[in-house]
Amino acid sequence: MDPARIDAVIDALAGEGWCVFEDLLPGAATAALAGECAALHASGELTAARIGREKVASTLRGDHTRWFEMDAPTAAQQPYVEALEALRLAFNRSLMLGLVESEAHYAVYPPGARYARHLDQPRQLEARVVSAVYYLNADWRAEDGGALRLYLDDGSHHDVLPQAGRMVLFLSSRFEHEVLPATRERMSIACWMRRREPGSLI
Ligand code: OGA
Ligand code: MN
Repeated sequence: MDPARIDAVIDALAGEGWCVFEDLLPGAATAALAGECAALHASGELTAARIGREKVASTLRGDHTRWFEMDAPTAAQQPYVEALEALRLAFNRSLMLGLVESEAHYAVYPPGARYARHLDQPRQLEARVVSAVYYLNADWRAEDGGALRLYLDDGSHHDVLPQAGRMVLFLSSRFEHEVLPATRERMSIACWMRRREPGSLI
């Protein structure tokens, strides 16, 4: 991403606290991520997501996930991880957020699956500061559903369709959001940029 676009993202985070932008990566790089995600899912390497201490698959959350190894990204993940690092360092420089690391996972929502309204930073001590969701779905149409619904400060909401190349960023502690059910399979990468856990040494 060029510096002017990164500056626009920083202004939005410092102002409204959220933003949406297109083409974090070139189309071929996004397609490679989509291909890897679909292949991992087809070979059973994603697992049903859990919320908190839940032991059973939840009706509140129907996606299947697989964490990235941020220190050892695959070839497909490399450009994405580099772009995230560039954003994280820029946020630290301009907003002094003290973000020490990012965590990310693939998520596949089967048709009809949803993620009920929630906050990514549910407890006061949570280390997640910035949420960033990157979408991998080519040719997504409004009638396919599956929007991310972001609940804004003024009581209104903003829907983001999970179109390939699109990224939505928001402050984790400030915006509740939900994933609406889709009529087709929906793939994304959810990422959280984290500050140091209180009391930890890293
Ligand atoms: C999450 C989440 C949103 C999306 O994983 O916490 O809110 O659009 N994902 O996939
Ligand atoms: Mn979330």
